[in-house]
Amino acid sequence: MSSRPYELVVFGATGFTGKYTCEHIVSQLPTNLKWAVAGRSEGKLQSLVEELKSLNPDRVAPGSLYTFTDYHDTAAYARQKS
Ligand SMILES: NC(=O)c1ccc[n+]([C@@H]2O[C@H](COP(=O)([O-])OP(=O)(O)OC[C@H]3O[C@@H](n4cnc5c(N)ncnc54)[C@H](OP(=O)(O)O)[C@@H]3O)[C@@H](O)[C@H]2O)c1
Repeated sequence: MSSRPYELVVFGATGFTGKYTCEHIVSQLPTNLKWAVAGRSEGKLQSLVEELKSLNPDRVAPGSLYTFTDYHDTAAYARQKS
């Protein structure tokens, strides 16, 4: 069994494509999926999580990771955690 905290992490979740990806996850993927959104802005991520909760209130909200400041940090994080 994996010790990873999440099965799926959406990087760049606050962007145009990222939001569509998150909406698809919320509406189509199994509700027991352990997933998280990640990005550079904690405020944007929290707003996104609230939006996603309103789409499907019965679903467990994604974790929110404020993990990186630029692309290089993102790549380093992905290598460690995913
Ligand atoms: N939109 C389309 O129709 C479309 C079609 C085909 C391909 N694409 C491609 O898909 C990708 C995303 O497009 P998009 O329209 O969704 O763009 P977007 O709305 O500008 O979103 C970009 C996302 O990437 C993050 N980001 C930008 N620079 C970053 C950096 N240096 N380090 C870490 N994160 C960074 C942004 O974070 P912040 O929120 O913090 O700024 C945001 O979450 C692009 O490569 C684009 O060429 C888009």
